[in-house]
Amino acid sequence: MSAARGWISVYAPATVANVGPGFDCFGFSLGEPGDIVRARLSGEPGVRIVAINGDDGALPLEPERNTAGVAALTILRGLPAAAKFGVELSIDKGLPPCSGLGSSAASAVAGAMATMRALEQQAGLPYDLDLVWQGALAGEALASGSFHGDNVAPALLGGFTIVQAVNPLNVGRFEPAITLRVALVMPKLLIPTIEARAVLPKEVPLRQAVANWANAASLVLALLTGNEKLLRAALHDDIVEPVRARLIPGFDEAKQAALDAGVYGCSISGAGPAIFALAPDDAIARAAADAMAEALNRHGLASTTAVTSISPQGARVL
Ligand code: HSE
Repeated sequence: MSAARGWISVYAPATVANVGPGFDCFGFSLGEPGDIVRARLSGEPGVRIVAINGDDGALPLEPERNTAGVAALTILRGLPAAAKFGVELSIDKGLPPCSGLGSSAASAVAGAMATMRALEQQAGLPYDLDLVWQGALAGEALASGSFHGDNVAPALLGGFTIVQAVNPLNVGRFEPAITLRVALVMPKLLIPTIEARAVLPKEVPLRQAVANWANAASLVLALLTGNEKLLRAALHDDIVEPVRARLIPGFDEAKQAALDAGVYGCSISGAGPAIFALAPDDAIARAAADAMAEALNRHGLASTTAVTSISPQGARVL
């Protein structure tokens, strides 16, 4: 074993998933904040989480119940050559769980990448990117109850990502050809992803499906070509957003306030409760974020705001 079992630290950023019509497919990286997972090999087989900081004691240390732990376990089990090794993890949560900003995916991605890098650098095993994906997706599935990669992909790759399929995995990535600012509102409310998925319709009328895939394809075209009019028209989701909006008091008013402020479009970030809007410039993004926060506040929901960008930055070794 080389590198004297030092800690390998990996950072993975916050992400916005779904992005309107791209439920379970589209996502983009926010660059920061993010989670850091440190990994090092030990001689004791299995995964041991030795510390979690920044979670106020909310997250479990048992690896089978922790997204980073499941990611690491998946990697160890996928590599016969790793059977004699164990991995110790230490997790720094920079992202609040159940916020809609891809907290579980960030931990899963950082846990998977840190484990794989530790095996590479400390046991000489080849870096297996497919296994990193599998580990990250398995970790995310623990938190959400389903295999989807719309937070995992941008947390790993940065930019705007499209998960065409998870089995076999096929992911596209691009950077929008248009300058955008992202307005974010983060209500002081927790919505576990599993609960936000339980309210979703099991079937969708064909007419709604047609409108949605027209919007999804048009949204990507608009971002790739910088077509602002098309972006404004396509950033709509009439399938998932309306049912989840009921979980966020004041969502409809907040969205209208953002649109009135001049954003291109606005929707729930991932499973919520965070809300994002894409804006043409900083002033509009700031006005939209403030207006959304005020609208939620009128419904008794306190929140914090941020204005940021779609970041090219994904996960990285620190
Ligand atoms: N696409 C997922 C959802 C993202 O909206 O449920 C959160 O895991």
